[in-house]
Amino acid sequence: MPRHILVVIGHPDPSPERLCRALASAYADGAERAGHIVRRIDLALLDIPLLRTMQEFEHGAIPDSLKEAAEAVVWAEHFVFVFPLWLGTVPAMLKAFLEQVMRPGTAFAYPAKGESFAKSLLRGRSARLVVTMGMPAAVYRIWFLSHGIAGMRRGILNFVGIRPVRETLFGMVASTSKAKRAKWIGQMRLLGERGL
Ligand SMILES: Cc1cc2nc3c(=O)[nH]c(=O)nc-3n(C[C@H](O)[C@H](O)[C@H](O)COP(=O)(O)O)c2cc1C
Repeated sequence: MPRHILVVIGHPDPSPERLCRALASAYADGAERAGHIVRRIDLALLDIPLLRTMQEFEHGAIPDSLKEAAEAVVWAEHFVFVFPLWLGTVPAMLKAFLEQVMRPGTAFAYPAKGESFAKSLLRGRSARLVVTMGMPAAVYRIWFLSHGIAGMRRGILNFVGIRPVRETLFGMVASTSKAKRAKWIGQMRLLGERGL
């Protein structure tokens, strides 16, 4: 079944040289080739104002520069977030984007009177986090317990109803051979074809 897939490139550096861009493109190309309907959002090309107050979060309008992206978030059935690990977690730009678009009324609803839990409004969607990093991926998993990724998965995506959230980690990117990078690109293309 063709899926609506939203590929979010969460790398603040717009340079085409970045591995994250190549991985995101490979996924999107594979998905399109297999008949999925793909939309891409490149955060480095967007104006993402910092959200500063609870008032803005609950009652403010989504900034004009993010309206199309916010609409794509509701449209998507499957999300692919591709980003580098920065200081152990997601780059601030990606967090700023999520704070703007995962708003009450769109992504979740506060509990009604007498209810204990917020209501997730993006149920039925799935996601994949594709993360590049300088350290070996096993070190991030075992020693750091993937804390930054776990925060995004549990604190943001699961909270608004998106599950399962799968993960693909690419480590030691600075010293990777061309052959290994080509293998990673192929892996992403395959995941795209399968819409996973
Ligand atoms: C500001 C900054 C912080 C970083 N923090 C980490 C980190 O905490 N752990 C790590 O393994 N790599 C870290 N790195 C390395 C990046 O993860 C790595 O350069 C990136 O994944 C390479 O992918 P790219 O070519 O798409 O940029 C950091 C890099 C920068 C620029």
